Amino acid sequence: MTPDSLGQVVDVDGRVLAGGIVVDVDLVGVQKTLNPVLKAKALDNRLPVPILGDPHAERVMRRLDPGYDKGRFRASQLGLAAVVRAKALDDWARDFLADHRDAVVLNLGCGLDARVYRIDPPVTVEWYDLDFPSVIDLRRQHLPPREHCTLIGSDVTDLAWLEQVPRGRPVLVVAEGLVPYLTEDDVRRLLTSVVDAFPTGRMLFDTVSVSAWRGSRWDPIGRMYNAVFRCGFDDPAALASWHPLLEYVDEAPMNDSPVLMDRAPATIRRIYRLLNLIPSFRRSSRILRFRF
Ligand SMILES: C[S@@+](CC[C@H](N)C(=O)[O-])C[C@H]1O[C@@H](n2cnc3c(N)ncnc32)[C@H](O)[C@@H]1O
Repeated sequence: MTPDSLGQVVDVDGRVLAGGIVVDVDLVGVQKTLNPVLKAKALDNRLPVPILGDPHAERVMRRLDPGYDKGRFRASQLGLAAVVRAKALDDWARDFLADHRDAVVLNLGCGLDARVYRIDPPVTVEWYDLDFPSVIDLRRQHLPPREHCTLIGSDVTDLAWLEQVPRGRPVLVVAEGLVPYLTEDDVRRLLTSVVDAFPTGRMLFDTVSVSAWRGSRWDPIGRMYNAVFRCGFDDPAALASWHPLLEYVDEAPMNDSPVLMDRAPATIRRIYRLLNLIPSFRRSSRILRFRF
């Protein structure tokens, strides 16, 4: 039992001990998918020149799983494409917040991602991190509180949470690794409700292709977490047709991104180069930007 850098007392598994009682949180199903993404960000931070460079990810990952990088394949950087996605979303978010210092940010399906600390928005921005209640409990244990950053524990598809958010201001929606786990109907309701609720905004999120969606039921990681994809799009720009005010802006590269080919260790670069020869792999995940 030792005090960690937040001054909390943790046990050997990194669980917070409060008044002698272990405050543990059991994540189920799709909630567990936050783990591989966090691990990828933690490992990225140890590259000679990281892509994202997130010390929070490394610290939190060590607390959750002290041996996360020990053993034969545990330090593999194969998940670096997820880090490329986080970096692209951060860069777009910074661009938007530079021009909209009064914005409301909705970081949906936040997991244990430390975007608000990485971006460090001005105090004029109201930031909301949303995920299932048990994930938010875990977040409270592992990431420090921050003024103008509110945690919402809710299923994102239960749109009552939108009532907690101030309207009348520009909105930035960031949903990293979330949309594929929702049904198409739920994604549609979510996007159109946000457009209806705010005067203007940007929406940044990633989608998977139809074949990645259909194939996910055979994916060993998805099966291990009991979390399969529930929607996929081969032409995600067409989502703009869901609302007359919604416009597709552009997309950022992921599996074949230049920064991945530049910074990933040589073995990982070779694996991605080979996989990218398969068009259905190269375009299996898309990072998208919409505005309204
Ligand atoms: C792949 S993880 C990504 C986590 C985080 N965005 C990141 O990039 O590190 C997907 C996250 O979406 C959350 N999620 C999935 N479905 C959700 C729902 N219906 N409501 C709220 N959160 C959801 C999960 O709990 C999980 O934290």
